[in-house]
Amino acid sequence: MFKMNDPILLEFCRVRKQFGPVIALNDVSFSVRAGEVHCLVGENGAGKSTLIKILAGAYSIDGGELRIDGKPVRIETPAQAAAYGISVVYQDVTNVDKLSIADNIVLGSENSRFGFNQKKKNYEFVRPFLQQVGLEVDPSALMETLSIAQKQMVMIAKALSKNARLIVLDEPTAMLNEQEVHTLFQIICSLRDRGITVVYISHRMEEIYRIGDRVTVLKDGGYVGTWDLSSIDTQQLIVKMVGRELHDVYPDKNRPIGKELLRVENLTTEKIDGVSFTLHEGEVVGLAGLVGSGRTEVLRAIFAADKLYRGKVVLEGNELSLSSPIDAIRHGIGLLPEERKRQGIVNCLSVKDNITMLYSQLHAKCGFLRKADDDAIVRHYIDELHIKTPSAMQAVGNLSGGNQQKVVVSKWLSISPRILLLDEPTQGIDVGAKADIYQLIDRLAREGMGVIVVSSDLIEIINLSNRIVVMRDGQAIKTLESDELTEENVMLYAMGVNADEKA
Ligand SMILES: Nc1ncnc2c1ncn2[C@@H]1O[C@H](COP(=O)(O)OP(=O)(O)OP(=O)(O)O)[C@@H](O)[C@H]1O
Ligand SMILES: [Mg+2]
Repeated sequence: MFKMNDPILLEFCRVRKQFGPVIALNDVSFSVRAGEVHCLVGENGAGKSTLIKILAGAYSIDGGELRIDGKPVRIETPAQAAAYGISVVYQDVTNVDKLSIADNIVLGSENSRFGFNQKKKNYEFVRPFLQQVGLEVDPSALMETLSIAQKQMVMIAKALSKNARLIVLDEPTAMLNEQEVHTLFQIICSLRDRGITVVYISHRMEEIYRIGDRVTVLKDGGYVGTWDLSSIDTQQLIVKMVGRELHDVYPDKNRPIGKELLRVENLTTEKIDGVSFTLHEGEVVGLAGLVGSGRTEVLRAIFAADKLYRGKVVLEGNELSLSSPIDAIRHGIGLLPEERKRQGIVNCLSVKDNITMLYSQLHAKCGFLRKADDDAIVRHYIDELHIKTPSAMQAVGNLSGGNQQKVVVSKWLSISPRILLLDEPTQGIDVGAKADIYQLIDRLAREGMGVIVVSSDLIEIINLSNRIVVMRDGQAIKTLESDELTEENVMLYAMGVNADEKA
């Protein structure tokens, strides 16, 4: 635990950053004490990642200065940041999949030379750091063989290998499950015990309180304040972030349930085995389970993204034999994928082109008809989901993480699917915008859509779903009905404590 009189490690002094007309940071000043876990929170687009990128030497500073140990410093390159003992684990894990774990750790350091002997030395060099983050992996294995959580741990190991004094974690848990979060928090605590300072960015309030000593709030690029977490409660903190109180974040899920929309029977692919369940109009069915339990694979099987070995997908009474995802889309099935960087968006295209990409493929109109359609759609979603962008023509790669996610959500909603498959739909989305997305899911369900949602956020999935199918080892272990939806039940079945029961 940090103490009140711990020295100040890092100060942001009137830090300013502008991207064209967008003022991303407007005279932000606060300090981080040595050895504390300092949380940084704020809505999507508030400026959190920008501040961190300035600290990491990835962005230049337009005004103000940084001080380390009381002295002004110039950090203009990532190498300079590393020399000051600063390491950043970014929001979108920035590893090289085709390199080995060891190569990823030494990348950018003098040990990244080639040659067999160097390789062997590197394996030995990285082993203790992998151990410190609890990773039991072969350093020569390719990065692509790891889960997202493991990749993140590798990046923390990399920070340790560089002797970091300050480690910044930008939304590290957005794609982790409960257990992985638990492991990460143990690692953060051990870092703190060793006197390493942690700056922690997250949209999950309960995490902030579990792990943080102090919290700083940014809003619209401005500094709102810094508090001891023991002196401010969640509701007060949300008001600081969003500027209003948030009540009834989750909509009332007692919707009229209509006829059967979708039935999967004995669905079997390389990764899942004999999965069966149904989905009705107006229903939200949750797929819960540990990472690797096959939740994403069930969605992919329905969407014809993976080859079906056995089993059938029945849409409104008719058995489908879908040949590809495009075929699935034509039948009114949409899939919002988990990894937006890889499958969701095209960074260099505009917000508009990303949102209308599918719609215009399905509704081949030409000339001004199409343009009018596209414009209306884009305006609708920018308003409805409060997408923060200077214009519809902005390249999506320049939006904040949460706003990119909103663009992907819009793309799928624009084609009004009958069935929407959502894989971690609110990852990286701020508390206010989450509420917007929940309302939207509820409204679409009331209009007759059926929704299947995968989420590692237990509270979210329980509050959104009418029923939850719990997956374990590729199988649907149990369907929990409305009165059985509790965190304990989901965890019990997901972890196999009640192994005797079947769905
Ligand atoms: N390279 C860039 N070019 C143009 N605008 C940018 C760029 N990077 C960030 N911005 C803008 O700066 C503002 C702050 O973005 P930033 O990524 O720092 O937000 P954030 O607080 O990290 O949000 P999130 O919670 O969604 O990750 C946003 O309006 C964003 O669109
Ligand atoms: Mg960010």
